[in-house]
Amino acid sequence: MKRPILIHPDPRLKKVCAPVADISDDLRQLADDMLETMYDAPGIGLAAPQIGVLERLIVLDCVKEEGAAARPLVMFNPRILAASDETNVYEEGCLSIPEQYAEVTRPRVVDVEWIDRDGKVRSETFDGLWATCVQHEIDHLDGKLFIDYLKPLKRQMITRKMQKLKRERARL
Ligand code: NI
Repeated sequence: MKRPILIHPDPRLKKVCAPVADISDDLRQLADDMLETMYDAPGIGLAAPQIGVLERLIVLDCVKEEGAAARPLVMFNPRILAASDETNVYEEGCLSIPEQYAEVTRPRVVDVEWIDRDGKVRSETFDGLWATCVQHEIDHLDGKLFIDYLKPLKRQMITRKMQKLKRERARL
């Protein structure tokens, strides 16, 4: 089932999310709903707080090539074990901040550990777009948005645009 995505500014997007204890059927269903919501948007990543659930769960799929097989990843309690000194700059966007994009500098390579949909602990090294995306999504679990990396003036400009967008949507 598709879920509505919260739009910034929203207090739920600023919260530090709680770790998940057991991977229950309810949590698996939540992850499946998040993947459906993400693909429908369309987007390459989604964090649980973006649908108002304050738990440490993210989903992502950064396969972009036309015709390539999808690679949906479900990560409970993801954490970054190591990050490269070398950085990468990507123009980032966010489903909670529609149609706003800005360059963000992050480590180019990260080692991430998480619990998968079957409750197994997994780890993998991510590079390029996957590394940027997984860091962006884990930030959401700590109440951090990509605009928090921007200069205050730019951040305020984007926030005002989102407030206007929310007012317009509320009138519909
Ligand atoms: Ni985002």
